[in-house]
Amino acid sequence: MQAVQEAIRGASPEAIQRHYDVGNAFYRLWLDHSMSYSCALWVGEADSLEAAQMRKIDYHIAQARAAGAAHVLDVGCGWGAVLKRLTTVHGAGRAVGLTLSREQEEWAAATADPRIKVRRESWVDHIPTAPYDAIISIGAFEHFARPEWTTEEQTLAYRRFFARCHDWLRPGGWLSLQTIAYGSLDHEETRTSANRSFLLGEIFPETELPTLGAIVAACDGLFEIVTLRNDREAYARTCHGWSKRLVARRREAVAVAGAEVVARFIRYLKLSAILFHQGHTNLLRIAFRRLKEPRP
Ligand SMILES: C[S@@+](CC[C@H](N)C(=O)[O-])C[C@H]1O[C@@H](n2cnc3c(N)ncnc32)[C@H](O)[C@@H]1O
Repeated sequence: MQAVQEAIRGASPEAIQRHYDVGNAFYRLWLDHSMSYSCALWVGEADSLEAAQMRKIDYHIAQARAAGAAHVLDVGCGWGAVLKRLTTVHGAGRAVGLTLSREQEEWAAATADPRIKVRRESWVDHIPTAPYDAIISIGAFEHFARPEWTTEEQTLAYRRFFARCHDWLRPGGWLSLQTIAYGSLDHEETRTSANRSFLLGEIFPETELPTLGAIVAACDGLFEIVTLRNDREAYARTCHGWSKRLVARRREAVAVAGAEVVARFIRYLKLSAILFHQGHTNLLRIAFRRLKEPRP
């Protein structure tokens, strides 16, 4: 039982905090105003990062059929941009967000909107107070598996996630998921590449990316995949935009986070832009409809 429990916990809270708790003052310098830290949805050359991030959030709210819903869950809520948009613009009654980061929890709690509840808790431990009408998860699924796991353990962990979402959703509910996934590179080849050991070792410890195949296998019999898009060029543009903003604010960033951290983040953002552009990594946005009669 212990082994099974461990096999569904991805990156530990300590590993998540190592990345996300560098400091809110640092992230504020180069993220957009909403503090969205995931791939934006761009339209046209002149689009701004702010507008593209809001469009992404609205896209997921629409895909999850969450507008006007009474109770919505955001798994991996970051600094709370989706929660805020749900309650202030889309008429959601209550929005619950889960994060493992202390700084994100503090930031999102400062919103002081009684309709929003942020919990520093893994989805593995979450017990809803009432069924959810819709679930959104953007940029967190990447952390749900560990590098040392076998393919079977990884798929089992994802299946547990989909099974929980199935249990938590009302009949007819939707889940809108956004995640990075391995692209054209052979999975085994990436396990030994220098870029991978930098990104998944130094930047995102205890983290392993999914393949589309693992996601499809894991949700089988629980959810129907209704739409699937790969927006990897959108993530290349987002990472490129972030790195330009961070370079422009380098002096202030060094003052709040130190030169080593800033150099590491610039390297990671530039490298990520290239990997998305070349198709080594994909950016998947998937809308799932809950199946009424789950199959084991
Ligand atoms: C890249 S950030 C994305 C934040 C936000 N969704 C956005 O788009 O700006 C990843 C988020 O996933 C959360 N996370 C990672 N593993 C988690 C887990 N097991 N349970 C809940 N949240 C988790 C992190 O704490 C962080 O808030």
